[in-house]
Amino acid sequence: MVASLDVGHPFRQASNLALNEVVARRKAAGEPLVHLGFGESLLPVPPVVRDWLADGAGRTAYGPVAGDSAVRTAVAGYWERRQLPTDPEQVVVAPGSKPLLMALMAVVDGDVLLPRPSWVTYAPQARLFGRPVHHVPIPAGHGGTPAPDALRETVRAVRRHGGRPRLLILTSPDNPTGTLAPPEAIRQLCAVAADEDLLIVSDEIYRDLVHSPDLPFLSPAEVAGDRTVVTTGLSKTLGLGGWRIGAARFPDGPLGAQLRTDVLAVASEVWSTLAGPMQVVATRVFEEPPVITTHVRAAAVLHGAVTRAVHQIVTTAGADCRAPAGGFYLYPDFAPVRHRLRERGVTDADSLQRHLLDELGVAVLGGHHFGDSPTALRFRIATSLLHGGDDAQRDLALRSPAPERVPHIAAALAHLTHAFGTLTTGEGNATR
Ligand SMILES: Cc1ncc(COP(=O)(O)O)c(C=O)c1O
Repeated sequence: MVASLDVGHPFRQASNLALNEVVARRKAAGEPLVHLGFGESLLPVPPVVRDWLADGAGRTAYGPVAGDSAVRTAVAGYWERRQLPTDPEQVVVAPGSKPLLMALMAVVDGDVLLPRPSWVTYAPQARLFGRPVHHVPIPAGHGGTPAPDALRETVRAVRRHGGRPRLLILTSPDNPTGTLAPPEAIRQLCAVAADEDLLIVSDEIYRDLVHSPDLPFLSPAEVAGDRTVVTTGLSKTLGLGGWRIGAARFPDGPLGAQLRTDVLAVASEVWSTLAGPMQVVATRVFEEPPVITTHVRAAAVLHGAVTRAVHQIVTTAGADCRAPAGGFYLYPDFAPVRHRLRERGVTDADSLQRHLLDELGVAVLGGHHFGDSPTALRFRIATSLLHGGDDAQRDLALRSPAPERVPHIAAALAHLTHAFGTLTTGEGNATR
């Protein structure tokens, strides 16, 4: 597969945040919308986490840029329990994983290789630093990682054209496809990275939201530990997006030490450090007492149940869609019913996104925002906002053994059944 060079204008508001604002305005005006356009988990946090935040309120000093030794030790322990022995000196905490990813784009000199499709932010971040971006197609079975042969071909083609491919970003479980890369795919990609001297960033922010604990997860850092940076955070697993807690694990050895030093230089000039109270929260959460592990597992099970219910709806409506395995996303492809969509004036990802919002009351984010072909009939669904409109509803969803039958979720699923049925059959199949 031949590389494609992306040279879009960098200074635009992130498409997911922009859509979120449009939806908020239309909902406030009373429009009945089902919001599948924003990947935010708002599940209520266990009350003890609020106590930890209060305990940290007195932490007013800046402190070390990388985070204090208590939080780095706790984060190192988190990775140790996941087959990644980690010295606290390899860890950096930050206000979210986004700034850490951005700092990596800033300091790694070379072109960026991304799966096609991939999370909306990677490519714009790369462009902020003038890094050429090359999208590599994902395989049929899962997303978040390029197909290994296509990656090798792209790297070589880019080099032939004078480019300098250097940074490979992998996401598992993935946003936007909601899938998990099988261990064999990770091993093959690590082999390509070693042959072609690529650095890997493994974005594992959804790792603890794998729907079934039986699914095998392999981090590239277990295979190519000398060239892999792992990032994570608490925005998704604990629904703490607004608290902005992220962490990175740098490779052991001289390359990792240099990268970490460079990232800390960026951090020191941009965000200084993770806010003191958040370091206290992060320390306690990454130590993983049972109150946290139980909550996170319940959240993963809820995400799995709701995402599988929506998967059933889109596939029944005629879409191809990889089965979800982790996190809260789906990436349906409506190509099999392209002719039906054409009858409704829908011919590409943009018109599909608009039609769903304006005619059918469903907010999604078109595949073109993820680096995918604008002519494909693909979009990303985020299911996390189906859990409810307030804490009481979300708590009910979290405690239910059959969340898809909880009334407010069932009502949203009925809306989706009708909307996608209308889209592809012209009738709506809510009653079938
Ligand atoms: C794949 C992926 N990585 C990173 C992030 C950013 O998370 P944070 O809140 O840690 O900056 C997100 C959030 O949507 C994401 O989906």
